Amino acid sequence: MYLQRRNRILRKTPAIRAMVAETILTPNDFIAPLFIDEGKGQQYEIPSMPGYFRRSIDGTVKEVKELWDLGIKSVLLFIKCRDELKDNTGKEAWNPDGLMQTSIRAIKDAVPQIVVMTDVALDPYSSYGHDGIVENGEIVNDPTVEALVKMSVSHADAGADFVAPSDMMDGRIGAIRQALEENGFTGTGIMAYSAKYASCFYGPFRDALDSAPGFGDKKTYQMDYANRLEAVKEAQMDVEEGADIVMVKPALPYLDIIREVKNVVEVPVSAYNISGEYAMIKAAAKMGWINEEKAVLETLTSIKRAGADLIATYFAKDAAKLLTS
Ligand code: PBG
Repeated sequence: MYLQRRNRILRKTPAIRAMVAETILTPNDFIAPLFIDEGKGQQYEIPSMPGYFRRSIDGTVKEVKELWDLGIKSVLLFIKCRDELKDNTGKEAWNPDGLMQTSIRAIKDAVPQIVVMTDVALDPYSSYGHDGIVENGEIVNDPTVEALVKMSVSHADAGADFVAPSDMMDGRIGAIRQALEENGFTGTGIMAYSAKYASCFYGPFRDALDSAPGFGDKKTYQMDYANRLEAVKEAQMDVEEGADIVMVKPALPYLDIIREVKNVVEVPVSAYNISGEYAMIKAAAKMGWINEEKAVLETLTSIKRAGADLIATYFAKDAAKLLTS
């Protein structure tokens, strides 16, 4: 056989493959989500997320130091709210001395350079477990946006570098940007969960924060997984309204959406490799059906290859270790 082109030449040795690799994963790509609880010295493993913990602030700060030392540049904070503090207004969400605000200050004190991002949505604070305020069985948009604005300003005031609205209400990015400006937080950014789908893969996360919806589902605000163009519309509108980074979530079942969004926006795109995606790899690895380390690196590389500039992932620490060892 005389072949004009032999593609296998570029796959011949590890050195050649490294030279021509199109996608290179680094710890700079990762955003590490952290679950925070009250108390001191508390650490609770999430049953549906083996190896992942909800920790009190002291343990969280220690974890953040380790993440920073591994080269991870950003953390995304979630808190578990005590039941007595939950109501339909979500007002604990903008308590200046709330768990979130206290955590932001503690982390910024301990590791000032790390980029602190905060989840903005009412579900952990809502007695209904919904991302917004409920009236007559409906999640009402505009009053919810007012609440999200207060929540965002209070996170910025506590020192958050980026607020990350994950609620999917209409118009919230513009309203939050305007409020940040009016309150002098001109250096605070917005990472918008722009294309967030109503997904069954959020289950383990809702176990972690005890935030499952008390009635119905989230389909009147989170997106229908049948849709692609709607994601493009959401991302474009969020950019127009002032989003600095747009996100697609979940990641693995939506790699096509990540690429689609990446092709049309001129801001960085992030993707959230969510709790259910973590749980699936952990479960299969535990059964001995896949190799966890290889599955993690292949998965994260595929998300980056699809177009994600940043990846929020519960595997951030493990992957950073694998990449730097
Ligand atoms: C809250 C929120 C959710 C996640 C991030 N922010 C859950 C939901 O919308 O029900 C899910 C993250 C994950 O599953 O890892 N609005």
